[in-house]
Amino acid sequence: MEKIINGFPFVEYTKESYDEKEMLEKSAAFLSYMDKRRSVRAFSTKPVPKQVIENLIRTASTAPSGAHKQPWTFCAVSNSSIKTAIREAAEKEEYESYNGRMAPEWMEDLLPLQTDWHKEFLEDAPWLIIVFRRSYEYGAGNTKKNNYYVQESVGLATGMLLTAIHHAGLVALTHTPSPMGFLSGILNRPENEKPFLLIPVGYPADDCYVPKLHRKPIESIAAFYE
Ligand SMILES: Cc1cc2nc3c(=O)[nH]c(=O)nc-3n(C[C@H](O)[C@H](O)[C@H](O)COP(=O)(O)O)c2cc1C
Repeated sequence: MEKIINGFPFVEYTKESYDEKEMLEKSAAFLSYMDKRRSVRAFSTKPVPKQVIENLIRTASTAPSGAHKQPWTFCAVSNSSIKTAIREAAEKEEYESYNGRMAPEWMEDLLPLQTDWHKEFLEDAPWLIIVFRRSYEYGAGNTKKNNYYVQESVGLATGMLLTAIHHAGLVALTHTPSPMGFLSGILNRPENEKPFLLIPVGYPADDCYVPKLHRKPIESIAAFYE
């Protein structure tokens, strides 16, 4: 069903609701499923079909965004020379970060993860999805039209991307080889796009271990006002 409100088209919202018992079961099952999502740093080189990656990106793009500007671009790289260029540039930045650029407190916080400047996964993973945020769009006559709440919108879309990756039975890492300006150069992106996150996607390596982490309990992440 469609109708016009003040000259603008609206479609009837398709409800999808459950009774309380079903809702409780579904929400608990999804929590348990999402609790298994982990950041993985050891990837298999096994290929993943492009169609799957397209579906993941389209899922990310269902995210809400300020004034529905959809201020994101997802660059998906499987080309091995581009992956190598990205790894080399990322390792250069990470080497600097791990050898003096990061504050001692930050280095200490990273200890339980046992990360270092080596980033094999940038070549091993079959796909790298580089998320760019678009702070403005080009209007008529090359004028700039600002987007709104860009960080929030792109963060939400990336969260949905990670959820979709997990749902497809694949793994990912949220990676920030900072500063990430080199990604704009290697991928030849326009001036209105800035790198947001670098996300290798694929299967975990056969021998894959992740840090034993604990998630905060509900009491320390939520406040209820009933
Ligand atoms: C914004 C952001 C940046 C991150 N950057 C890196 C990174 O550069 N390298 C890395 O190994 N992990 C990075 N991570 C992953 C976190 O270390 C990881 O999410 C955290 O330890 C919790 O582990 P989990 O994702 O397995 O639950 C980043 C995560 C976020 C959200």
